[in-house]
Amino acid sequence: MPDMLVRLYALPEGRASRLGPDVAIRRALAAERRIVVPWIEERFGTLWAGEAEAAFSSTPTRIHVALCKGELAGFACHDVTALGFFGPTGVDQALRGRGIGEALLLESLSAMRAAGYAYAIIGGVGPAEFYARAVGAVEIPDSTPGIYADMLPPEESGS
Ligand SMILES: CC(C)(COP(=O)(O)OP(=O)(O)OC[C@H]1O[C@@H](n2cnc3c(N)ncnc32)[C@H](O)[C@@H]1OP(=O)(O)O)[C@@H](O)C(=O)NCCC(=O)NCCS
Repeated sequence: MPDMLVRLYALPEGRASRLGPDVAIRRALAAERRIVVPWIEERFGTLWAGEAEAAFSSTPTRIHVALCKGELAGFACHDVTALGFFGPTGVDQALRGRGIGEALLLESLSAMRAAGYAYAIIGGVGPAEFYARAVGAVEIPDSTPGIYADMLPPEESGS
């Protein structure tokens, strides 16, 4: 799971959005913390829920959400794992393939660019092809396990 580097000064501009009128992307509000974090824990586990909690600890928050017909559909964090890092991110399984993940990625990276970063790092990527195609991300050599070395594993439930 290597890290990837994104040039924020060369983000794709003017790409037609595939999102329908029923999908909205916006920064999460602090008041939504106890709704969003359990949603993430249920679908993506305790480690990502912990990172999402950290993303709610500043104003403005460092987490964007996607809403589909007013219901939570996905999320994307930044400046959580480390400063300058994008992630974690996830879209509800039933709603994947509709452009939501890409829209969340672009919105988060635009917020990072506005905050003054020239580059973003996508930490410990799973779908490298998704990031390469969406924002031209390139793999950082020798970045596995990177910042995640020696991280505690999630606790087994019931133990
Ligand atoms: C990765 C993820 C966020 C993508 O969300 P999504 O809403 O399905 O993505 P989009 O619909 O915006 O896809 C945009 C493009 O990337 C492609 N793509 C999506 N997921 C992909 C994957 N895992 N591998 C390769 N390509 C992928 C899509 O086919 C689409 O291509 P197209 O423009 O040619 O149609 C989603 O699959 C997810 O939640 N995965 C589980 C959690 C995860 O792995 N998060 C990333 C951790 S680094």
